[in-house]
Amino acid sequence: MHFFTVPPVVLQLFVLLILASPAAACIEQEKRNLLGFLAGLSQDGGLATSWRDNGTDCCEWEGITCNGDGAVTEVSLASRGLEGRILPSLADLTSLQRVNLSYNSFSGGLPLELMSSGSIIVLDVSFSRLNGPLPELPSLVTADRPLQVLNISSNQFSSEFPSAIWKMTKNLIALNASNNSFTGHIPSSLCLGSPSLTLLDLCYNRLSGDIPTTLGDCSKLKVLKVGHNNLSGTLPVETFHATSLEYLSLPNNGLQGELDRAHMIKLSNLLTLDLGGNHFGGNIPESIGQLRSLEELHLGSNNMSGELPSTLGNCTNLKTIDLKFNNFSGDLGKVKFATLQNLKSLDLMSNNLSGMLPESIYSCRNLTALRLSYNNFHGEISLRIGNLKHLSFLSLVRNSFTNIAKTLHGLKSCKNISVLLIGKTFMNEVMPQDETIHGFQNLQHLAIHQCSLTGRIPIWLSKLTNLKMLDLYSNQLTGPMPSWINSLNHLFRLDVSNNSLTGEIPITLMQMPMFKSDKAAVYSDPSLLDLDLIIYVAESSTLQYRIDSAWAKVLNLGKNKFTGVIPQEIGQLKALLFLDLSSNNFYGVIPQSICDLTNLQQLDPSNNHLTGEIPAALEILRFLSQFNISYNDLEGPIPTTGQLSTFQTSSFDGNPKLCGSLLIRDCSSVEEAPMHIISAKECSTKVIFAIAFGLFFGVGVLYDQLVLFRYFG
Ligand SMILES: *[C@@H]1O[C@H](CO)[C@@H](O)[C@H](O)[C@H]1NC(C)=O
Ligand SMILES: *[C@@H]1O[C@H](CO)[C@@H](O)[C@H](O)[C@H]1NC(C)=O
Ligand SMILES: *[C@@H]1O[C@H](CO)[C@@H](O)[C@H](O)[C@H]1NC(C)=O
Ligand SMILES: *[C@@H]1O[C@H](CO)[C@@H](O)[C@H](O)[C@H]1NC(C)=O
Ligand SMILES: *[C@@H]1O[C@H](CO)[C@@H](O)[C@H](O)[C@H]1NC(C)=O
Ligand SMILES: *[C@@H]1O[C@H](CO)[C@@H](O)[C@H](O)[C@H]1NC(C)=O
Ligand SMILES: *[C@@H]1O[C@H](CO)[C@@H](O)[C@H](O)[C@H]1NC(C)=O
Ligand SMILES: *[C@@H]1O[C@H](CO)[C@@H](O)[C@H](O)[C@H]1NC(C)=O
Ligand SMILES: *[C@@H]1O[C@H](CO)[C@@H](O)[C@H](O)[C@H]1NC(C)=O
Ligand SMILES: *[C@@H]1O[C@H](CO)[C@@H](O)[C@H](O)[C@H]1NC(C)=O
Ligand SMILES: *[C@@H]1O[C@H](CO)[C@@H](O)[C@H](O)[C@H]1NC(C)=O
Ligand SMILES: *[C@@H]1O[C@H](CO)[C@@H](O)[C@H](O)[C@H]1NC(C)=O
Repeated sequence: MHFFTVPPVVLQLFVLLILASPAAACIEQEKRNLLGFLAGLSQDGGLATSWRDNGTDCCEWEGITCNGDGAVTEVSLASRGLEGRILPSLADLTSLQRVNLSYNSFSGGLPLELMSSGSIIVLDVSFSRLNGPLPELPSLVTADRPLQVLNISSNQFSSEFPSAIWKMTKNLIALNASNNSFTGHIPSSLCLGSPSLTLLDLCYNRLSGDIPTTLGDCSKLKVLKVGHNNLSGTLPVETFHATSLEYLSLPNNGLQGELDRAHMIKLSNLLTLDLGGNHFGGNIPESIGQLRSLEELHLGSNNMSGELPSTLGNCTNLKTIDLKFNNFSGDLGKVKFATLQNLKSLDLMSNNLSGMLPESIYSCRNLTALRLSYNNFHGEISLRIGNLKHLSFLSLVRNSFTNIAKTLHGLKSCKNISVLLIGKTFMNEVMPQDETIHGFQNLQHLAIHQCSLTGRIPIWLSKLTNLKMLDLYSNQLTGPMPSWINSLNHLFRLDVSNNSLTGEIPITLMQMPMFKSDKAAVYSDPSLLDLDLIIYVAESSTLQYRIDSAWAKVLNLGKNKFTGVIPQEIGQLKALLFLDLSSNNFYGVIPQSICDLTNLQQLDPSNNHLTGEIPAALEILRFLSQFNISYNDLEGPIPTTGQLSTFQTSSFDGNPKLCGSLLIRDCSSVEEAPMHIISAKECSTKVIFAIAFGLFFGVGVLYDQLVLFRYFG
């Protein structure tokens, strides 16, 4: 007999077909609900086409997942370019459990039906431009909702943050409503209604009032973030009953009171304590040493005082200590820093700390940023500072340290140092000239200002080839501007003002690559990036200007004893935003080429012996917002058009031979024949619009008050 035998391949195919065939095609009603959702969109980013082309089975559609019965369980349409309204028809999908509509551009609000759904477990509509109030549940809804995760963060929701709804969300685990405009209070019902709540993020809203004591009932709560609101009152002791807390973050509110020494230790799981930018007073209790897991301590910008507890050294996991802008006092020596081997940043700026820098600090091998400015530290910095191989940022500004030479010799071993701020300390010492000061190959910003140092601009600076900013203002430096200055290829800010430098402007200064090139001046240091944003802040209270988007190209030679003429080649420094030549002994004419500096926002050649006419072509410097040529010996008319006509007479004072409508001396009364005035059109260089910089800099950049900061919040 000849039996019909099935070839194995066909068998396999058969089996495959059975396995692969969908358990069930989508239910017709479900499809209608999805199409109903589609109908609410004004822009669907091609979704309708995609769904149509994918056939009639909605379970096969992009972003849709079904269960075995052909009912939709998940709608996942994040970053899909959707616009228009979210219609409630989505909530008619009765098996829907997960909805992700984040990163779209909806308008209108979030339908109540989605929040009160009897099936949805995860609802993520973050970054989706939703607005209006968040709906409150009507009181007739009584049964517990299955909702576990609600992410409505980074929308434009406003009005009162709802409170009643949380009584119905017993299963809620994570609630992120940050970065909206909610008003009202932190609902006191939150953990009563939702005992499983683990994550609560309400930061960046407009919430006010007290922190409810009931938050202490959140026994599962690990993450509590309500920073950047308008909370007031104290941190209630009940908060410390939430012993699972790992992140307690309430910065930038109006909270006050003191840290409760007895209760604080209950939070033994705490990793981050951030209470910065409030009105907390009192001291740091000894008991902080029992928070063994603590990695980040932010208490900056409060009103705290007293000595730092020695027990801080018991928090051996600390990576960040931020105590800036308080009134802590006493000797730092009590704290045993040697145990803090994980410490990466220590910010003690603007306190009242005194004594020597404790030796133990030099054992914190991971230290990357150390800010000691505006305290009363004294004594020498140990050579052991060279042990800090990761050190990238160091500020010693306004203390009473001594021996700058030793400090620099120690620091030269810190190969990674990129920002070194030394101002108002090492007073009246001599600028080290020692050629054995080398290293510093990563140094990008060196500020040695207001120290009244004597000596010359030292040659070792010429080896700092990565230097981008050099501030030597307000010392008593003598001698010339060194001709090697143009070897600093990356330098875009040079401020040597208020010294006693002599000689002529070296021609090499007119060849500084960054002053000549439109190449953006960018400060970059990857090793500091993880610490925080790049920001410029003033270390002094005279802050007038804050620069955080761009970097000014600055040449400040003012208040010295320079002499000679202003070189014609100055016109090459086209990228300069700020040029100060004031209060020197320059003579001769203002070179015509100065009108090539089309990015200039501030130009100050005042208090010199300049003669001749004001180049009329200066009027094309359209970004010029500060201009001063007073107290020279200039003559002829003041240009009456363009930017120059917008300045006050004080910009022209002290030049008896000048005339013009701004001045009492009218040009028509001048007897001499009018001199040839070079027009703007004769200025060969075309105007380059400095869009990148022009937007960010305006009047009165008191840049010498500005000191670089990029650090830790
Ligand atoms: C069908 O849907 C998938 C995603 O589910 C999508 O990647 C594909 O582009 C769709 N097909 C058509 C023809 O639109
Ligand atoms: C929603 O999608 C975004 C973007 O893909 C993703 O980052 C986010 O984690 C998703 N949300 C949830 C709750 O899974
Ligand atoms: C929204 O929050 C949830 C819970 O924290 C998270 O899983 C999800 O990734 C967040 N969504 C986005 C887009 O980050
Ligand atoms: C809440 O969402 C924002 C984005 O909107 C995110 O940056 C933040 O990390 C989230 N909070 C938590 C605790 O995950
Ligand atoms: C806040 O939300 C806006 C969009 O509304 C977004 O651009 C911004 O990045 C968000 N900020 C944070 C810190 O998540
Ligand atoms: C912050 O809250 C206080 C009351 O505690 C109120 O007087 C003040 O107007 C609020 N500020 C803002 C910006 O909402
Ligand atoms: C700061 O604390 C001191 C006590 O150390 C107190 O006298 C002063 O009133 C407090 N200032 C503010 C603004 O709370
Ligand atoms: C805390 O640190 C101190 C030294 O600073 C040490 O003597 C003490 O034993 C430590 N306490 C505990 C509980 O480890
Ligand atoms: C700082 O604390 C000291 C006591 O250590 C106190 O005398 C002084 O008034 C406080 N200063 C401020 C500004 O609160
Ligand atoms: C320093 O930090 C690194 C990670 O950044 C870590 O692995 C190391 O344990 C820390 N401590 C020391 C002493 O290096
Ligand atoms: C600094 O502390 C001393 C006492 O150590 C105190 O006399 C002085 O007032 C404090 N300075 C400031 C600005 O608080
Ligand atoms: C020095 O900085 C560079 C990046 O700027 C980084 O890759 C390197 O790991 C750092 N070295 C140390 C010892 O921190």
